[in-house]
Amino acid sequence: MCGIVGYTGSKNCSSILFEGLSKLEYRGYDSAGITVIENSKAITIKAQGKLSNLKPELDKSGFTGTCGIGHTRWATHGKPSVENAHPHTSGRVTVVHNGIIENYVELKSHLISTGRIFSSETDTEIIAHLIDIGLSKGKTPLEAIAACTVSLKGTWALGILIDGYSDTLWAARNQSPLILGTSSGENFIASDIPAIMSLTNSVIFPEDNEIIEVSPDKISIFNEQLEEIRRTPQTILWNPVTAEKGGYKHFMLKEISEQPRALSDTIAGRITSEDLIYFDGIELPLNIKRVLIIACGTSYYAGLIGKYMIENTARIPVEVDFASEFRYRNPVLDANTLIISISQSGETADTLAAVKEARKSGAFTLSISNVINSQIPRVSSSSFYTHAGPEIGVASTKAFTCQLGALFMTAVHLGIKTGSLEQKEAIRLVGELRTIPSKMHSIIDQGAQIKVIARRYMSSTGFLYIARGLNYPIALEGALKLKEISYIHAEGYPAGEMKHGPIALIDENLPVVSIVPKNGYYQKVVSNLEEVRARGGKIIAIATRGDSEIADIATDLFQIPDTDPLLEPLLTVIPVQLLAYYISDFKGTDVDQPRNLAKSVTVE
Ligand code: F6R
Repeated sequence: MCGIVGYTGSKNCSSILFEGLSKLEYRGYDSAGITVIENSKAITIKAQGKLSNLKPELDKSGFTGTCGIGHTRWATHGKPSVENAHPHTSGRVTVVHNGIIENYVELKSHLISTGRIFSSETDTEIIAHLIDIGLSKGKTPLEAIAACTVSLKGTWALGILIDGYSDTLWAARNQSPLILGTSSGENFIASDIPAIMSLTNSVIFPEDNEIIEVSPDKISIFNEQLEEIRRTPQTILWNPVTAEKGGYKHFMLKEISEQPRALSDTIAGRITSEDLIYFDGIELPLNIKRVLIIACGTSYYAGLIGKYMIENTARIPVEVDFASEFRYRNPVLDANTLIISISQSGETADTLAAVKEARKSGAFTLSISNVINSQIPRVSSSSFYTHAGPEIGVASTKAFTCQLGALFMTAVHLGIKTGSLEQKEAIRLVGELRTIPSKMHSIIDQGAQIKVIARRYMSSTGFLYIARGLNYPIALEGALKLKEISYIHAEGYPAGEMKHGPIALIDENLPVVSIVPKNGYYQKVVSNLEEVRARGGKIIAIATRGDSEIADIATDLFQIPDTDPLLEPLLTVIPVQLLAYYISDFKGTDVDQPRNLAKSVTVE
């Protein structure tokens, strides 16, 4: 997962690299390091822990060089420590790496047998050795890098410095994310757009197995045979301000609050003034008999809701699978199956591999992703981009509601396409979608009520989340949000399944968060809540405004505006996001960078 950044130009690069890493820290935060070429020689500083621990080292460094690389790490091989922190150096070569070298054990033992000495436990260090060996045999930097990458198995995005070259850096990629930024007299490499977007919006996306030479005035891209490839930069429209906290205590709170704007941006341009879905530019197969949704984590829960939406509007059977399961289970696919992948980052390793598997078998793949030109859209048959803007908090919030918006529009479109949804009903549903951003606003405006509830329950050691129908995945999502940022155990359950086991957990110490809007499941959920109340359980209910029956049953109540049942999850998720946020903030855990996690999961 890790983040890499590199700069060459005329400015002192150390602060540019540090600033870039601060935008990538969401990718990993167990150690960090920077190397700058000073008087033709690479000088490295490193620190264990968060990037802030590197700051005193940077202040002491006195760096003045104009070419350098940086790294923020999420440990895969070797514990978090200064020794294992990147950059890694061997002889004249210094590298930063995001990815995993699968054959590093065999390469390392061979290198050791030839007398090479290693100073870390990482898989990365072998890369520095291999390139250094190439140089010492008289190869040019490009030849040495190409010879090295040919011997590697696995995934990599690399930034490379070589002593003696004071204004050139090299990069290479295979399956790990890497972008190249270009500007007048300065050029950049980075794992992701936020790292450089305050400096340039002109970006090139290298492909797998390419090697790149970057100097202040030129970016040259080569294939494995070192033939030069021309690629035109693209302009990125993300606004740098959206990648800042903007006065909020945490990115997560900012991103929860941004949901009305993010959803409006996702639906804008996809609905006409007559409230019809505008699907131009997104191709779908002609005769869809089955839909298979693949995703991980929060995106998988969006997929579960997508199943309800598509089955309701289009009457097409939908299956939802964890990408990590799908790819290994030899699924049955045919030309009439539409595969929808959902991924905020567009680079989750399991989802990417699942899409590639699906394409191999000839299936049509539609990606729903938030990051333009990320890997999953690039390998998919067609793409539907959400416009949530950069999501920095590790816990996904605004990306999720935008995924739901995209799935809803896909469901309505498929409904019209299959003839299962009358135009009049489609127009009514789209009209209702238009009202969601302002309804989201009204929930966020009442966030202080959730804060009070969070304070009351912050010391609980476990939570149960229950709901039925489309809101059942919101119970799962609420439990996931709480677990990942507050480290409190929580479970999401279909309310009707309580009596088959989990009801044994109920006592006065177990808060039960229940999502119970006034829809077709309402009375059933109320009955389940009565069963909880009869056993002394504490009920935190998320219900529809004006519902007086639930007010009598619930210990704590949060009310949301009414909407069409198919759109309810876009509203019911906000209180569970806020509950997790405030509990975590009260407990003092690291909301934006919870332990053991990283934003883009680019390892299997
Ligand atoms: C949880 C969370 C993760 C991601 C999952 C998939 O808050 O963010 O569960 O949803 O890692 O990531 P993407 O959507 O980037 O494929």
